[in-house]
Parts: sequence; structure tokens; C-alpha cells
Amino acid sequence: MRDDEIRERYDPLSDGHSAQVEMAASLFEVPGRVLDVGTGDGRNALYPAAAGWRVDAFDIHSPAIERAQRSASLARLEVAFFVADAREFEPRESYDLVVCHGLLHFLVRDEAFAVIEGLRKSTTRRGVHSLAFFSNAAPVPSDLQHLVKCTFPPGEVELRYPAWEVVDRRYYILNDEHEGGVRHVHSMGKLVTRSTHRAQRAQ
Ligand SMILES: C[S@@+](CC[C@H](N)C(=O)[O-])C[C@H]1O[C@@H](n2cnc3c(N)ncnc32)[C@H](O)[C@@H]1O
Repeated sequence: MRDDEIRERYDPLSDGHSAQVEMAASLFEVPGRVLDVGTGDGRNALYPAAAGWRVDAFDIHSPAIERAQRSASLARLEVAFFVADAREFEPRESYDLVVCHGLLHFLVRDEAFAVIEGLRKSTTRRGVHSLAFFSNAAPVPSDLQHLVKCTFPPGEVELRYPAWEVVDRRYYILNDEHEGGVRHVHSMGKLVTRSTHRAQRAQ
């Protein structure tokens, strides 16, 4: 699949919400509760809110949360945005859909796996996780190396979801151009997975 085709399908770096989140939400007959972990400017939280979901969304970076709150208020959407660290966050309730895009590679591997485990436990029966992360298929761009703490070989993240059904997975290289003409080669991993509700711990 060509880059532009991937972009069209999963638009990971566009200003709008990720089409992967739209696909994950479409797996439900009625809107439920969604948690967006590492929401940034909130693009993937505003979309489900507009579609009738009850949305909690957090980020470690308070200016991002302030921007997300402004966007929600301008769009007259209700989203519970708050500042929190995914490594310490303890959900008080269960979510039907958990979105975690662009965050896991900023954590060290064990932390990333602990975050996934915590989120798994806070997911409803037949709940869905939508994940996007850096895979190790290409080197991390030099200007991101000081931020990125781990990358994931294809298949590694899936192993954290024993007995969950893989709805969609893809690994690909994305040639991206950021503001100011900065070019990046991103090695992306994408996973949409659904709980089958059989109790089983990740190895
Ligand atoms: C690449 S951005 C992705 C933002 C958003 N998920 C999206 O797809 O547009 C990664 C976000 O993760 C946040 N982040 C990094 N470490 C975090 C942590 N430990 N807990 C919560 N958020 C974190 C960053 O502040 C940043 O907003």
C-alpha cells in the first residue's frame, strides 16, 4: 500500500481525528465510554464526543490539555479532559473503547506494558483498544531520539493481549513532512484489538 493510500485510510498525522479511532468506534452498535490516553490536543477525544460517546481524556502536558479544552468548548462538546501521567493513572471505571495513539514509545518498555495491562483491566466485556506506536522497522528520526524510549518489533504489542481478538493490525513505514518542511520516516505499528473477556494474564 502506498503512503498516500495509508494516509487516506488511517491519516495518522492529520489535524483531524484518526480514521482508526473512527473504525474502532464503529465496532459498537451504540456509543459508550471512551478513554483517550495521551490525548495531546484532543483530536481523538473530540471525534467520539461528537458521535455521542462519553469521553475521558488525559495527557501529561497541561498546555495540550488547555488547548484540547478550548477546542471542546468552541465545538460545544463535552469531554472530561485532565492532566495525568499514564504510568500512574488508575482508572476508576471501565471503558468500552480505549485509545492510546502516539504515547507508548515515549515510555520505557516495562512501563508501556504496565500501562497496557492497567488499561486492559479497565476495559468492559467486548471492549476495544486502538493503539498506534513506533515499531522498530526503521530507525527513530534523529530529532526524536532523545524523546523516544522504546520501539516495538512487529507482533510484540499483540502479545500483551492474550485471548483478545485482533480486529486490525498493520506495520508500515510512513514518509511524513511536518511543519517547516521537516521530513520524517516513521515506522508505525497500528493495532485494534477486542476483548473476548476470557480472563488471562499477559506473559
Ligand atoms: C504524539 S502525541 C499524540 C497525541 C494524540 N494521541 C494524537 O494522536 O493526536 C503523544 C502525546 O503523549 C503525551 N504523553 C507522553 N508521555 C505521557 C505520559 N506518561 N502520560 C500521559 N501522556 C503522555 C504527550 O504529551 C503527547 O501529547
